[in-house]
Amino acid sequence: MPEQPDIDHILREIYATLSPRFGEGKVADYIPQLARVDTRQFGMAVLTLDGATHLVGDAETAFSIQSISKVLMLTLALGKHGESIWNRVGREPSGSAFNSIVQLEAEHGIPRNPFINAGAIVMTDLLLAGHTPREAIGEMIRFVRSLADDEGIVIDQAVAKSEQATGDRNRALAYFMHAYGAIRHPVDHVLGVYFHHCAVAMTCRQLARTGLFLANDGRDPVGGGSVVSRSRARRINAMMLTCGHYDQSGDFAYRVGLPGKSGVGGGILAIAPGHAAIAVWSPGLNAQGNSLLGSVALEMLAQRTGWSVFG
Ligand code: DON
Repeated sequence: MPEQPDIDHILREIYATLSPRFGEGKVADYIPQLARVDTRQFGMAVLTLDGATHLVGDAETAFSIQSISKVLMLTLALGKHGESIWNRVGREPSGSAFNSIVQLEAEHGIPRNPFINAGAIVMTDLLLAGHTPREAIGEMIRFVRSLADDEGIVIDQAVAKSEQATGDRNRALAYFMHAYGAIRHPVDHVLGVYFHHCAVAMTCRQLARTGLFLANDGRDPVGGGSVVSRSRARRINAMMLTCGHYDQSGDFAYRVGLPGKSGVGGGILAIAPGHAAIAVWSPGLNAQGNSLLGSVALEMLAQRTGWSVFG
């Protein structure tokens, strides 16, 4: 049996090493409410399959999960529509920015993958089938609360409003896809739901707990219930590995070696299959819109634990 890494020690070491750099990177100022966040905050949570919780720094402070919600949108859309979703969205890395428009025209309104904004907007359209916008938002928040086993998780309405007020780029993507018939519901309904999903607020501890089923073949190792099948969990992890960091996905796979999904709130959810779910939060972003220190912290964690999907 390989020796269990001392995760608390590793987290303390990561915190101490990175603390002189806290505040590096730039907040996402295109969503004004996110621009108000103090960039010097840093938190990390590691939840292992035996149910142990390891925390460091601001791991109990809620932040906007933003695009990390795209993993949940994909999981819900697969649950509702099965593999037929792949008729509406691709599963290739885009090599472009998360909010890129150019590729969409060349590819006739079919987004490259469910984790770029255009792809997540299509997933939201699928989640609206048979639902009012309010019901679709309710379905997401109930799903998150049940995964996290925490009824206290809420949507930050100020963030949702802030993005609604400034979301012209997403509006452009959505209208463009609507013109191709790639979106079937009214654009304002789809975007209203999409913005609310992005505005779910969670702490690192809650986020890691939410993702734990992906580290355990689709089953909740604590509550014991099955969330998705084993093959579906593997496939969601495959999407996170190949597409979870947009045009930095290759770099993240090279440096960290784990499936991960970032958000412009500065959070990253990473999955070490068979070991743990990890959430890190550091609001300063790099040029690709991913948490700058968050990915450094995950690289250090992966090195020190030996966790990797590449053996
Ligand atoms: O739609 C947007 O632009 C944001 N609500 C989410 C983007 C995001 O988190 C990209 N991730 N790094």
